[in-house]
Amino acid sequence: MINQLIPKIKKEISIIKSENELMNLKSKYLGKKGELTSYTNSIKDLSIEEKKIQGPIINSIKKEVESLIATKLNSLKRSLIDKKLAEEKIDITLPSKGTSYGSTHPISQVSSEIVEIFTQFGFETFEGPEIESDYYNFEALNIPKDHPARDMQDTFYLNEGSLLRTHTSPMQVRIMEANRPPIKIISPGKVYRCDSDVTHTPMFHQIEGLLVDKSVTFANLKGILNEFISRFFGSDIKTRFRPSYFPFTEPSAELDIEWKDKSGKKTWMEVLGCGMVNPKVFASVGYDAKEFNGLAFGMGVERLSMIKFGITDIRYFYQNDLKFLKQF
Ligand code: DAH
Repeated sequence: MINQLIPKIKKEISIIKSENELMNLKSKYLGKKGELTSYTNSIKDLSIEEKKIQGPIINSIKKEVESLIATKLNSLKRSLIDKKLAEEKIDITLPSKGTSYGSTHPISQVSSEIVEIFTQFGFETFEGPEIESDYYNFEALNIPKDHPARDMQDTFYLNEGSLLRTHTSPMQVRIMEANRPPIKIISPGKVYRCDSDVTHTPMFHQIEGLLVDKSVTFANLKGILNEFISRFFGSDIKTRFRPSYFPFTEPSAELDIEWKDKSGKKTWMEVLGCGMVNPKVFASVGYDAKEFNGLAFGMGVERLSMIKFGITDIRYFYQNDLKFLKQF
């Protein structure tokens, strides 16, 4: 009987599929009332001679059964892990979905490009507040309350005395108030005007320039801006300075470039405003206009981008249409 036990147990173990079944088998043979346990318990009733023979046999069978169970337990655990690994396997040879990267908005690109050119000329960059006071946006720039130039810049007024800046020129005043010449700065940023059509959006970007020193001339202004135009649009571009009017510069000019339209016809395109700092502006920051003079200029980033890329509707910049944005 006992010698048939091992093959019998082996057979039973071979078809076991779970730890639970194995534990049941273990208690069936090795538990308190288990078959093998009863053999072990019966040893004490045998004669000494019998004990000597049967004892080691029963013990070795018991050991073998224990080791069969332990081996089976191991292999059950192993196959459980294998199964899990197989389920969680990642096929690294599969092609990926691909990542699509964003890109810098064309307005940011052009703005950085302009800043970069003026940085090469030795201009420092400062940014200023978009919520301005009437004083910095108008008064200190020689645009008094009843001045018609205020109408040119349909203003978004906030609370009493504060407004959304209509241009970056207030930075001229802020910089001059806080520093003494020589001053050589540009100031890029957002500006706001209550205006909207194919060439105007209520928010757009400008870059202001200001250079103040002893004996600055209009020739310096022309030199700097001509060099800027040739770096930004190309060295073969013709420019002209056309007399204009801005309250904060005297004399004032608009800079035009000769540009080919879509049909190839040459036309003059206005690209920026500029001039020599008006002594009245120096007075509002406490500079002596006999000691210092300066040049100033201001340009619209959207306008320059539209000319450069041949874009006819400014609103493309703000519709976030990927077909448009991906071209830059
Ligand atoms: N602030 C003017 C505008 O928004 C642009 C401008 C013209 C700025 C002449 C200047 C300047 O500094 O000298 O239209």
